[in-house]
Amino acid sequence: MFLNYLKGFAEASAFYSEESDFETTHLENVILHSMHLCKNRNLDEKLVAAIAMGHDLGRTHLNVHGKKHAKAGSKLMKKLLKDSEFSDDEKAIICDAILHHNEKNKIHNEYDELIKDADSLAHRDDGILKEDNKYEQYRIIASESESVEMTFAPVSEWITPYREHVVMLKESYLNKEKRDNHPDEWVHEIRTGTRKLRTILKFLAPTEKKIQKKLDKWALEMSEARFLHVATLKADSLSPKVNKKLNGLYKELGSKLSQKKIDKRIEQLNIEFDHEKIISDSLSRYERLIMDVTPKNMHKLRVKGKSIKYLTQMELTELSPSELVDAVLRLHDLLGDYNDFLEMADYFKESRFKGEAKKLMDLIQMEIFLIRKIILCCTTTKNVRYN
Ligand SMILES: [Fe+2]
Repeated sequence: MFLNYLKGFAEASAFYSEESDFETTHLENVILHSMHLCKNRNLDEKLVAAIAMGHDLGRTHLNVHGKKHAKAGSKLMKKLLKDSEFSDDEKAIICDAILHHNEKNKIHNEYDELIKDADSLAHRDDGILKEDNKYEQYRIIASESESVEMTFAPVSEWITPYREHVVMLKESYLNKEKRDNHPDEWVHEIRTGTRKLRTILKFLAPTEKKIQKKLDKWALEMSEARFLHVATLKADSLSPKVNKKLNGLYKELGSKLSQKKIDKRIEQLNIEFDHEKIISDSLSRYERLIMDVTPKNMHKLRVKGKSIKYLTQMELTELSPSELVDAVLRLHDLLGDYNDFLEMADYFKESRFKGEAKKLMDLIQMEIFLIRKIILCCTTTKNVRYN
């Protein structure tokens, strides 16, 4: 009964509003998308319908424009709902959702989220989605992603890339030409190669802790040189300060890593895999992490993102939807830059780098928002599986 009344009320308000054509189509589109999302997300149809019909009454009925239309609409809805069959709790859900429906950059409860997503989808259909409205675009991507999947290649397919990367690491170590002429590339190659092996082993041989620790040590040995080189790339002015030290480090590494030492390292990497077992809760761990992001776990987030990045590059895992992959990779890069700037601020005692890190934070928050949103929306099938 009430919903019929509300529908007539909303349609009439749209029809007699200043922008009658737009409001009428927008209302239709929002209702359509809301009901579709409602089914996917298993929410209460009556509540969703009431929210969708009433969401823009502040503008259409009360002629309040801009940000304030949400609050005005919510107030009006409270009055309209007075004699309806909805319970007090349900009335509160409806009014809150209308109140929040414009705050696209925040995540509220599932009903609030549904109207925000439906409103974004409708704005796209209405042709008024602004390109710089990242949050509405993110909401569209997330709402249209049906499931999050992380697929792993079969275990047997992990061994070949592992062996190949061991050979590649040896070649990197022994590349004298690179070591002498492009030591920055030499360091980076060894460091990345070592980290990739570390990532594969974490999955392929989770119990082989000793060799994993060694790989960590070998990567760490390259870290200071890599860090100083990155610092010169990010701030030219640092080069004179740093170059002498950097050259010293390159020299030290070169003489430390004798042929004998390299051979010994490579030998340790020739592991026989007898009980091949992959532990693959990587995505769900990432998921838990991303739902609870604090400045403190940014580091963990970066490490997790890095594993996903390496595994994706080596084609050992596949993530879907592709927007999720993009966001994970982009987030990882941003977190890398963020981390570099913080370390630089610390190392060089210069606060301008802290300022740079702060600027990156906004972008990082946005990527986190997108990933979180995709994961939240994919309630139908959450799936981590093996081929
Ligand atoms: Fe609105």
